[in-house]
Amino acid sequence: MFNSVSITDQIYWVGINDRRTALFENLWPLDHGVAYNSYLIVDEKIALVDTVDAGQTSEYLGKIKKIIGSDRKIDYLIVNHMEPDHSGTMQAIVELYPDIKIVGNPKTFDMIQNFYGITENHYSVKEGDILDLGQHKLKFYMTPMVHWPETMMAYEETNHILFSGDAFGSFGALDGGIFNDEVDMHFFEEEMRRYYSNIVGKYGATVQAALKKLSSLEIRTICSTHGPIWRNDIATIVSLYDQWSKYEAEEGVVIVYGTMYGNTGKMAETIGRTLSEEGIKNIKIYDASKTHASFILRDIWKYKGLIIGSCAYNTAMFPPVQNLTDKLIHVGLKNRILGIFGTYSWNGGGVSNLMKFAEQIKLPVVTEPVEAKCAACGNDIDGCMEMAKQMAKKLREQA
Ligand SMILES: [Fe+2]
Ligand SMILES: [Fe+2]
Repeated sequence: MFNSVSITDQIYWVGINDRRTALFENLWPLDHGVAYNSYLIVDEKIALVDTVDAGQTSEYLGKIKKIIGSDRKIDYLIVNHMEPDHSGTMQAIVELYPDIKIVGNPKTFDMIQNFYGITENHYSVKEGDILDLGQHKLKFYMTPMVHWPETMMAYEETNHILFSGDAFGSFGALDGGIFNDEVDMHFFEEEMRRYYSNIVGKYGATVQAALKKLSSLEIRTICSTHGPIWRNDIATIVSLYDQWSKYEAEEGVVIVYGTMYGNTGKMAETIGRTLSEEGIKNIKIYDASKTHASFILRDIWKYKGLIIGSCAYNTAMFPPVQNLTDKLIHVGLKNRILGIFGTYSWNGGGVSNLMKFAEQIKLPVVTEPVEAKCAACGNDIDGCMEMAKQMAKKLREQA
């Protein structure tokens, strides 16, 4: 059994892995599972930092009891974030330890009451307050909208550990390794960016505010609520978050299209090949019907160029492309260069609505859109090649 893991001789990871749930928040595919991380600090006073999803309550409580036994009680439950993937076991903890003090801020307590009806033993903290556990002292930083209004972080001053809530979190279960130097970092960087772009991406400005607030701290370990614990390369991980929350991107292009019978897809192939001939190495082509939008958004968050194609579908955009563009507006994508193409069929609706999308999201369009009547022919192919050339030129100019 994968038990608790020591982070220091008094701080333990007591999280759980979830490989059963298909969709995180009932929305986002969990092809490789997810971890809900919770941490136990065993000092003169005992503190639990966040809890876990309700699905494996008995396993979770068993891990805690294995460390502190049945006689000792937990003194404090630090609630950095109230989303139920972290607060789902709160009621069970309160039932087991009825005198536990629940540490949060006024917004946390509103949610605790509204989610779970718990109105007692609230221990309110504000910016800069310190909770003294003995050798360990936790200092609190309010970090609203990373990723809900009540979110806060706790900085453990003795070992310089930041308990960061969802910030720096990742999809992906912890398959044995739990520290960043024990896992495949390529996998976790991809899953971390998918988590960031889909779950937190809308809140770039508040992530920036949080990073600024934490910038003076000496952080040696980051304990997030999902994914690996970062115990080295802290600067790298913080700089990734800085880059993502500023909507900064690398040279490369995501081409995503919706097609019923393959004609819009063929245009995507031409664009991709021409980009490659122009020297662009990072090119990702996605069929929006096949690949879940969360994976496409992950790559859109990485690359500067975004070329979207849609066939016409009952005078509208093809539904999976509509879904993706709605999501891009929702997360407020910035700082990208757009290209638009598609097919008109009998009444149009794909390209014309993509142009409305471009106006709404306020991103520059690299060339006039290319719209084939049905199957792309001479001029349409030339238009696709020209769009790719102009995109490559713009990317080079901005490199
Ligand atoms: Fe969350
Ligand atoms: Fe979470």
